[in-house]
Amino acid sequence: MSLYAIGDLHLHFETPLKAQAQRKERVWKNHEEKFRKNCAALLTDEDTLVLLGDHSWGRSLAECGEDLRYIEALPGRKILCRGNHDMFWDAGRTEQLNAQFAGRLSFLQNNYFTYRDYALVGTKGFTFEGPFWLNARGRIVGWDEKNEEHARKLVERELQRLRQSFEAARAEGLRKYIMFLHYPPTSILEDESGFTAMAEEYGAEQVIYAHSHGEARFRDSIHGEKNGVFYRLVSGDYLNWQPVKLLD
Ligand SMILES: [Fe+2]
Ligand SMILES: [Fe+2]
Repeated sequence: MSLYAIGDLHLHFETPLKAQAQRKERVWKNHEEKFRKNCAALLTDEDTLVLLGDHSWGRSLAECGEDLRYIEALPGRKILCRGNHDMFWDAGRTEQLNAQFAGRLSFLQNNYFTYRDYALVGTKGFTFEGPFWLNARGRIVGWDEKNEEHARKLVERELQRLRQSFEAARAEGLRKYIMFLHYPPTSILEDESGFTAMAEEYGAEQVIYAHSHGEARFRDSIHGEKNGVFYRLVSGDYLNWQPVKLLD
């Protein structure tokens, strides 16, 4: 029995046109087939797989039908986080989705799930991604302040949701945490954030995040140990579609 994670499947069985740009890159060629084979070779039905958001290009539950059935058919228990592309998952619909997909898929937001004596907690998160103003040497000398102001509000809301997830677990006596975010825990302007502070406050052992695609973005946030927390990027293209083991 093991706990695995990966993010950003960006499936498109029912929305092929939306994924056209994505499919031009080599790592994304038939990625759903590569990922299915990797899961079949690695996972058993005793395992748990956390999928860290951006599951589908579909904009509604109807447009995601085949994508979600593909996920259901993977081995093991599947826990889903909410990504910025997951339009099918309105923030207020998490309970409804958990009821609708009971026994097949679990949706993580404002709640938690357990793995052995660990609580799996998480939320979508948010990071400011610009626009940035660069000088002639390509160094950041400023940024869009309106966007940054808006980002602050979204970060605050996500921090409230994350605290709700931690508190729900703590109220049930759980004291060991693995924390999942779709967005990286820090923006490229930050060394720390409300998300890293909360991970430290509750003593999360690991912070797992996704969303960063392509070589140029893989180092946008923290990798490895910092202040007693282990940070790991698990976007699918970064892992070349091989889920990473978090716990035995
Ligand atoms: Fe993504
Ligand atoms: Fe994303």
